[in-house]
Amino acid sequence: MGGAATVQREVETVPVRERAGGSVQRRRVFSGIQPSGNFHIGNYLGAIRNWVAQQSASDNVFCIVDLHALSLPTTREGLRRNIQDLANVLLAAGLDPDQSIIFVQSDVPEHPELCWLLNSVTQFGELRRMTQFKDKSGGQDESVSAALFDYPVLQAADILLYDTELVPVGEDQKQHVELTRDIAARFNSRYGQTFVLPEADIKPDGARIMALDDPTKKMSKSAASPNNYIALTDDADTIRRKIRRAVTDSGSDVTSGRDKPALSNLLTIYGLFSGESVSTLEERYAGRGYGAFKGDLAEVVVDALAPIQRRLVELAADPDVARRVLAGGAERARERASAKMEIVRNRMGLGFGPP
Ligand code: TYM
Repeated sequence: MGGAATVQREVETVPVRERAGGSVQRRRVFSGIQPSGNFHIGNYLGAIRNWVAQQSASDNVFCIVDLHALSLPTTREGLRRNIQDLANVLLAAGLDPDQSIIFVQSDVPEHPELCWLLNSVTQFGELRRMTQFKDKSGGQDESVSAALFDYPVLQAADILLYDTELVPVGEDQKQHVELTRDIAARFNSRYGQTFVLPEADIKPDGARIMALDDPTKKMSKSAASPNNYIALTDDADTIRRKIRRAVTDSGSDVTSGRDKPALSNLLTIYGLFSGESVSTLEERYAGRGYGAFKGDLAEVVVDALAPIQRRLVELAADPDVARRVLAGGAERARERASAKMEIVRNRMGLGFGPP
């Protein structure tokens, strides 16, 4: 994984927390990703790469959120394939089961259980204001699933079950993490201190990679056109073609700025994959035009993805590797989740247990 390590060189690591007495406690990190569609360089640069870079410094739980994927129509075969593919992507990108718990959400039934309990302290109006719901429902509120509406509460359950302190995500998940804090605070004030209030961990660069065919929209797995994104599995020629066709701004200067959304995005991608600063790149390509820049960018992306893709081929040939990792991860996650749920049920007065 030499290449992936190079890519991660520039990512800051999460500082460990000093406890009284000088001992060091690792920060608890949780994040999730949906097994839907095509995993792309936006997912990688905005999230996965940061998970990998921080994993040795923190106590990590990473979840393939298959229950969330049900909020839009799926098929049995499609979902199965996506879960397997995503597990392979996470391992190929460098998540290490010795350092991180990696599991599938539906293997831990405490997630939907806590979601239901948190529904009781979540307001309808809060969910209606979520921009992701508005975007994904596309104004069709009457016909989308109730799961799409309730989606952020399941996400809150994911995070709160593990006493999470940091949630490394892309910019689009900021609002959901803020809602999670509000839900946790409301629960705590109603039932007593139970949940840790998590913070979103959003890096200054790469948190919002834009679509190649429209730099005003974010790169998206569910985009209608494959020219929107570079999939982590795109071959070298596809990557070159997509970058050649990527929309550019008027003019010919390779510079970043508010009036240059397309070039800003391409420079960000270049910088993150090569470990160079945007100003270094601006200097290098001054007066050389878009063509030379795009040609080099394509090679940088091809080279950065190559080690991940090689590993993906190996993992695809041996599905038992991912199966074992996910089974072990589910067991460890269940242990933590069931202990937490016992406390939560008790706080709420559920069941007919001890007084
Ligand atoms: P999902 O599956 O849409 O995306 C996974 C991660 O990739 C980030 N991301 C991006 N980052 C930069 N640029 C982009 N164009 C881009 N597109 C996606 C996302 O911000 C995310 O970090 N609701 C979540 C999954 C989830 C979750 C959780 C996350 C469920 N439970 C608990 C954190 C904690 C989602 O749909 O991510």
